[in-house]
Amino acid sequence: MRRRRTAILISGRGSNMDALIAAARAPDFPAEIVLVASNRPDAPGLARAKAAGLAVAAVDHKIYAGREEFERALQIILETHRVELVCLAGFMRLFSPWFIGQWRDRLLNIHPALLPSYRGLHTHERALADGVKIHGCTVHFVVPEMDEGPIVAQAAVPVLDTDTAETLGARVLAQEHAIYPNALRLVASDAVRVEGNRVLGALPASNATLLAPP
Ligand code: GRF
Repeated sequence: MRRRRTAILISGRGSNMDALIAAARAPDFPAEIVLVASNRPDAPGLARAKAAGLAVAAVDHKIYAGREEFERALQIILETHRVELVCLAGFMRLFSPWFIGQWRDRLLNIHPALLPSYRGLHTHERALADGVKIHGCTVHFVVPEMDEGPIVAQAAVPVLDTDTAETLGARVLAQEHAIYPNALRLVASDAVRVEGNRVLGALPASNATLLAPP
């Protein structure tokens, strides 16, 4: 089995990064993490990745004249590491259509809501304010429109009467850590294919609907 050379892009904490790195430690995992890069040199996750012995890169967007220059620098680093798949994990920059075009069907993102509901920020606060009973998280391929793109995996999380944004967010995050490695496994092993806005293929049963107990 050839393991797909995978980069993780972060901007901060990096708990999803940790989950991906942990999953990829298994020798039979179809992706190998060859690089962790951050647009923020002080991202806590970057230091952890380095301590774990992974190649890391800080590509500080602030030192570039604009988005294009930043993205071209990042692209060169990805190419240098012969990266085949990219996982965004709390990466807080929007990419241009040019960059996304370089990574068509090879660029994944995790979003803390059941897309297409609650695109953007503060998803847990907004879900609580709307009184929804089911919330969750989504792994999707990245397209130029923010928080859109073919959905690879989702997990549903019940909203409890007692929930705050913090408690709900913590339960969603636990599910993020479960579905992101699973989604990367599916994509890296070519178990799924993209047709239009749909990702089709052999989804494991646990991926269909995951109702986490409170
Ligand atoms: C996660 O909630 C992810 O869904 C969102 O940003 C957060 C990143 O958390 N895109 P972490 O850095 O992975 O801990």
